[in-house]
Amino acid sequence: MFELEQALIEEKINQYLRTTNLPEMEIRWAWIPFNGQWGISTSFFQLAAKTFAGEKGNVAQRATEIAQGIASAIKIPDGFSKIEALNGYLNLFFSPSIYTQRIVDEVLEKESNFGRNERLGKRVMFEFSHPNTHKAFHVGHLRSAFLGDVLSRISDAAGYDVIRANYPGDIGMHVIKWLWNYLKFHKGERPEKDITRWMGSLYAEAVKRLDENPDLENEVKETYIKWDQKDPEVVECWKETREWSLEGFKEMYAKLDIKFDKYYFNSMFEDLGKEMVDDLIARGIAQDERAEGGAVIVKLDEKLGLKDEKYRVLVVRRSDGTALYATEDLALARQKFLDYSDLERSYYVVDVRQSLHFQQVFKTLEIAGYDWATRCQHVSYELVNLPGNVVMASREGTVVLLEDLLREATARALEVVREKNPDLSEENKIEIAEAVGIGAIKFPMLSRESGKIVTFDWESALDFNGQAAPYIQYAYVRANSILKKMNSPLPESVNPGEKLTQSEIALIDLISRMPSEIQKAAKDLKPLTICNLAYELARAFNDFYTQCPVLSAEEPIRSARLRLVAAARQAIANSLALLGITAPQAM
Ligand code: ARG
Repeated sequence: MFELEQALIEEKINQYLRTTNLPEMEIRWAWIPFNGQWGISTSFFQLAAKTFAGEKGNVAQRATEIAQGIASAIKIPDGFSKIEALNGYLNLFFSPSIYTQRIVDEVLEKESNFGRNERLGKRVMFEFSHPNTHKAFHVGHLRSAFLGDVLSRISDAAGYDVIRANYPGDIGMHVIKWLWNYLKFHKGERPEKDITRWMGSLYAEAVKRLDENPDLENEVKETYIKWDQKDPEVVECWKETREWSLEGFKEMYAKLDIKFDKYYFNSMFEDLGKEMVDDLIARGIAQDERAEGGAVIVKLDEKLGLKDEKYRVLVVRRSDGTALYATEDLALARQKFLDYSDLERSYYVVDVRQSLHFQQVFKTLEIAGYDWATRCQHVSYELVNLPGNVVMASREGTVVLLEDLLREATARALEVVREKNPDLSEENKIEIAEAVGIGAIKFPMLSRESGKIVTFDWESALDFNGQAAPYIQYAYVRANSILKKMNSPLPESVNPGEKLTQSEIALIDLISRMPSEIQKAAKDLKPLTICNLAYELARAFNDFYTQCPVLSAEEPIRSARLRLVAAARQAIANSLALLGITAPQAM
């Protein structure tokens, strides 16, 4: 943003070095930690060391002298307010008013692109959500869905080309049980509305029947054999009913504003996985103990020569030859790199209980010599508790369905909106309530370290005054309403003058940090960083709002503040967008 001025200063520094017979240097600037003033800094220790050419000498003292020499010799260009030498460092402070003007101008020019990096030409994949077909979409899958979606948004903003992949569990014993129950008791029925709920209820029914009458397991086994032998009736029924589930998921994702570029299905990888295992056996990596009634295994620790237990033993095929979860993951990992050979990283957003599983799978692939194996990474997260400590991913029947959670969120939000803003049309109120309700569910799952359990409760999720989505959305709405009251186009770029208040400076500082915070969040894979930024922005805006009159201020302060309000509104909107949360126009 100050490239021109920086280049000028660099030229002046080198001019000074030349005239004093010192070697020229390539100047690297670092930001001075913000402390009420914005500035950059560079040090002269390396240069000072050079002047001694290997001889002994006081480097620190020489660096201090050089910095002081420069500080007193150079006349600072416009745009800077102060130059100072401090312990071998040269500090340059920007003029706050010019800095402010430039930041605000940049935000208003770039709009929704503010904070986004240029394209890096690097591709990454996030696999997330992966619900099971023929089951309800319960809230247990929610944290993965939100984390994966938001990590994708953040990486995209940070400059990566992101592939968003889903891996639905469309086969396995749960599907066989469902098919058995359907063919025996519900043949010909189809879901009318609320597909996912209906699919889930049929599954729950199957489980219940089998609980009550374990003898029925034989029939399930028969269905499995039919499936395995590709019996046309079972396979057709599977194909059709699987589509129903996928249709239901699509509706759900649309509501949650989550998109996918690529679907990998569990069922695609049974045979491919088995082939890979055969190859592992042939190459002596996996051990086939089926003749002795065992399974096919990879003794990872032994292969790696580890004395302590670390990776243990991975079972890659059951004793009866069937594929396991791990068998399929071997083939899935490979498929991702066959489809996108340039993937820099292949991320798996899956809960912490599967950590060992992924370590084992990735290590096995590494031992097998797949060079991309080290580019696979498990992004783990802890579970979510509901009030009363109901683990969301519990057994069918007691799970909280996503639809129910969403419905409740919207209903609660609607109550608040009706109270706060009775004059809005009912249609408007509902629209706002949906935005607030979904935000209330998403934010708590994102605003916590992934390694910590989320305990979800309505009170803090819908808190208009705390670290919650509605608080941030409300700050956006406030900014919006000032601009609506302005009743004229936004004023042209203006220098705000030298009397910036503390609350303005704090707000501008946060806005200007957005690009680097996005980079940081992408690098650390941490949506929490963006949650914090969004919240801090909202808080700083609210401070500003209560302390600084805008519409009634004198010119040019009025114009400058209006532009600051617009920039803050944009920054809050952009941070909410990164979190997949809608910024409503009113509340
Ligand atoms: N469907 C699996 C489950 O419900 C999660 C899949 C995770 N992804 C993977 N590549 N294994 O546990």
